[in-house]
Amino acid sequence: MTYIPTHVQIETVNRFCDARCPMCTIKFVPDFAKDAPDELSNTGQARPAEIMSFETFKSITIKFKPYVDKIRFLSLHGCGEPLLDKNLPEKVKFAKQEVGFKEVGFTSNCSVLTEKMTIKLLEAGLNCIIPSIDGLTKEVLEAIRPRTNFERTYKNVQFFIEQRDKLNANCKVLIRMIRQQLNNHQWEDYNKYWRKLLSPEKGDDVLGLDVHNTGGKVENFDKMKVNDYSSMEDEHEAHFTKEIKKGTFDKLVTPKNGDGNVYIKAHEVEDIGGCPDLFSRFSIFASGDVALCSADQAEYYKLGNAIHEDPVKIFNNEGFNKYRDKWLSNDYKNLDYCRDCKIYLSRFHKTYVS
Ligand SMILES: C[S@@+](CC[C@H](N)C(=O)[O-])C[C@H]1O[C@@H](n2cnc3c(N)ncnc32)[C@H](O)[C@@H]1O
Ligand code: SF4
Repeated sequence: MTYIPTHVQIETVNRFCDARCPMCTIKFVPDFAKDAPDELSNTGQARPAEIMSFETFKSITIKFKPYVDKIRFLSLHGCGEPLLDKNLPEKVKFAKQEVGFKEVGFTSNCSVLTEKMTIKLLEAGLNCIIPSIDGLTKEVLEAIRPRTNFERTYKNVQFFIEQRDKLNANCKVLIRMIRQQLNNHQWEDYNKYWRKLLSPEKGDDVLGLDVHNTGGKVENFDKMKVNDYSSMEDEHEAHFTKEIKKGTFDKLVTPKNGDGNVYIKAHEVEDIGGCPDLFSRFSIFASGDVALCSADQAEYYKLGNAIHEDPVKIFNNEGFNKYRDKWLSNDYKNLDYCRDCKIYLSRFHKTYVS
């Protein structure tokens, strides 16, 4: 049996960002030295700060060509701000036109989403943008996204929506709030505000995701969290255990076609309470090395390199399968990293509005 990812994530920018969000645990340069130690990395050092070259991007994405029919989404963000990559529109265009990915998108703080960049991205065929907008007022947004500017961010995103409408581009806008103590009280008004500007018929939506601890790494998490994760944990555990006993998870990972491949959608794993990253999502760092999951910013393990190896083989290697087996047998709490992670809980409880 071969797992084929249905969501591919390629980190275009690593360790560069124009913001410094307190809930974000990336070791940005120049705050951290290029060769800063990172005890979570298999090398003991932080991954190189870099923007993936267009050549590297092409050589990796083309390997997914045989699977693009089944891949639902290609995202182009990772540990950094994707709009700092001047080649982003070219990458979008290549992924769409030369490889054939159906949906290409990314999340961004949108601080440098200039009018020129908006038009280039829409013309390149971008299908989805997730503006990370964590507040409805200047005070709140700039406290959660320091170094960004409230007026500029709102103007940029509004311009993007207007242009998308004017060009009738096939690009959905998912406005997303990472809910935390500073902004939770604004959630209802925030929905109303953004919903008025959006077009649900184009797939637009307003999303709320509770802040998570990025696998146990967020400092002062207790001062940010909006959920009593312990009660959520109980609810999750009861649900997950029931689904495991019913055999739902086993059924999900059983190949449905004669080719022996399994294509699992992220939401199908989330609904059961499993970690979608291990079963559906394949994340590639700017160096081409492969991440275990979205909490893995450091490169916990040497899983493989998508420039030099077949990405599908990497996704099915011993390292990934060891993690999957433990989830499938409800033994994930004995896994390093999963043990302290709240990402699967945050996904299990995410909210879609409008
Ligand atoms: C690391 S950022 C990179 C992309 C871009 N700079 C941005 O902020 O959208 C990717 C996503 O992670 C989210 N994020 C960062 N820290 C988080 C946390 N502790 N809990 C939940 N989401 C988080 C950001 O809001 C963003 O949507
Ligand atoms: S804007 Fe994104 S990458 Fe930058 S600090 Fe905030 S969450 Fe991290």
